[in-house]
Amino acid sequence: MKDYLSKDEIQKDLNSFYHTIEIKDKVTSTNDVLKDKANGLNEGYVLIADTQSKGKGRNGRSFHSPENTGIYMSILIKPDISIYDSLKLTTLTAVAVLNGIMDDGIEEDGIEDCGIVGFEGSIKWINDIYIQDKKIAGILCESSIDMKSDNIDYMVIGIGINVHSYEKPDELKDVAGSIEDFTDTTIDRNNLITKILNNFYHYYSDLNNTEYLNIYRKHSYVLGKKIKVIQGLETFNAIAIDIDDKGGLIIEKEDHTRLTLTSGEISIKVDENRN
Ligand code: BTN
Repeated sequence: MKDYLSKDEIQKDLNSFYHTIEIKDKVTSTNDVLKDKANGLNEGYVLIADTQSKGKGRNGRSFHSPENTGIYMSILIKPDISIYDSLKLTTLTAVAVLNGIMDDGIEEDGIEDCGIVGFEGSIKWINDIYIQDKKIAGILCESSIDMKSDNIDYMVIGIGINVHSYEKPDELKDVAGSIEDFTDTTIDRNNLITKILNNFYHYYSDLNNTEYLNIYRKHSYVLGKKIKVIQGLETFNAIAIDIDDKGGLIIEKEDHTRLTLTSGEISIKVDENRN
């Protein structure tokens, strides 16, 4: 189905925090384009593209961004927090996206659920959204930091979601899915964008409230599982134990020592013991 991205549709029920919604047919990367002009803009600017020619994923990977199928958007924020607290922005974004897609079952919590029934989404630390065993969305946060204070100057939060079903390239077939692969409901990208942006603002406007972490933990794809941790050149096995209040992943190594990951890459080793 071809649905057109529409500024009017997105803005209809959008929180006024978002002062500008810019929609482009094609950009290199919404994160790169927004970063280039971030210094001269107020927070609450959102750039959305129908396709990206150089969509970026984490750890130098690319993010496949075909036209008319997905959501590729970047939000500019200028939070008054230290870079050491920035992980919470990543985790709360993952919850905002997850809640936009699925019904969290809680009425009256200020969260806008799409309520697409028939599937349960989950979050793979730190910020990949899964349905069953397919990744359907990823988040890439990029910050500029004031070196004197270690505070964030600005952060660009990039969200990529595979919405409509499409034929995936061979290298993605086994790992990536689209939301509509899992439901008969036809999804309106504009409506989903509005919900996710409103959910993001709900959490962002009250950063001391860590309620989103309970949803993050409840829908974790990794807690209780055996994982492989890749940190720089080091790789080791561990069990994912918990998510701490800053979004760090508490793990137990094979020698039973515990540590908290704030960055790095994990992969699931065994699919049993799943929460
Ligand atoms: C990942 O899965 O590793 C993160 C993917 C993030 C993709 C989004 S799409 C919008 C924004 N622009 C980019 O170039 N990347 C992010």
